[in-house]
Amino acid sequence: MTTIFRRLLPALCALVALPPSVAAQQTPDAARIYAESCSVCHGDDGSGAIWGQASLATPPRNFRSEESRRELDRNRMIASVTYGRPGTPMPGFGTQLMPAEVAAVVDYVREQFMQGLDAPAAPLANVRDVPYSHTPPPAPHELPLPDGLSGHVERGRAYYMENCVPCHGASGTGDGPRAYFIFPKPRNFLEPTTRSYLNRPNVYKGIKFGVVGKEMPAWGKVMDDQQIADIAEFVYTSFIESGTAADH
Ligand code: HEC
Ligand code: HEC
Repeated sequence: MTTIFRRLLPALCALVALPPSVAAQQTPDAARIYAESCSVCHGDDGSGAIWGQASLATPPRNFRSEESRRELDRNRMIASVTYGRPGTPMPGFGTQLMPAEVAAVVDYVREQFMQGLDAPAAPLANVRDVPYSHTPPPAPHELPLPDGLSGHVERGRAYYMENCVPCHGASGTGDGPRAYFIFPKPRNFLEPTTRSYLNRPNVYKGIKFGVVGKEMPAWGKVMDDQQIADIAEFVYTSFIESGTAADH
């Protein structure tokens, strides 16, 4: 089953590597670039992500510090974002972003974070605030799996542990090790709105067809319908149903 995940990796990587430039022919969407490529290390408010302070050899720049304002002029920032900072975890974005996009995200950082020292964090148009790309309406929960399928929970559990935990987490809350780098975030199966629309057919369809344009893979390409039914049954009974029970 791990091989399934491995076979899917190129597809996943292709999704991740979609250049923002495709969507940004005219005006680069700097807020989005920042949220997608920078905030993971520099933090939503530009002061440096907490995890980075602790676990990166060189901590990310705090753009809000007096030091940054003194040291970082626009040209230096453009060079650093294009080529990275050798010997530090600051990557170069010159191959992913077009020059206009680099300039736009640098100006964004300067405007949002480096203006007045005491300025409070400006509210960001941050895609991380949008947890999921879509949340359909509640669905009837008495419906069975489609096509007369019935799922085997224990087999489903094993598939889930091997293929889904990296994103959805072992407890289904969407906090697997890869989740931090993904948005929209992987579904938290215990979240009430998600639970109310994910009945068995929707869980099944979600797994089989994925979420187009998002990092939820279409497992129907690598698993057969019975395997998908097994996982769907596991997800449904372990997270969706028990989530309901946990409310009491
Ligand atoms: C993987 C973590 C990481 C990501 C992602 C990241 N940075 Fe950095 N960034 C760093 C670190 C670490 C430093 C500090 C490097 C140093 O001290 O020289 C830094 C430094 C900088 C600096 C100051 C460089 C200098 O000349 O001193 C700028 C500007 C910057 N980052 C902008 C960005 C922008 C814009 C993005 C997104 C397009 C981004 N960073 C993405 C980790 C990251
Ligand atoms: C690479 C990360 C990743 C992996 C691996 C992954 N998912 Fe997801 N999954 C997501 C993301 C991201 C979403 C939310 C997409 C959205 O709502 O925009 C999602 C959404 C879902 C949904 C809801 C679908 C819908 O219609 O909204 C289900 C069900 C689901 N995942 C089940 C699974 C199962 C079961 C597995 C393992 C076979 C799995 N996922 C593996 C990232 C992942």
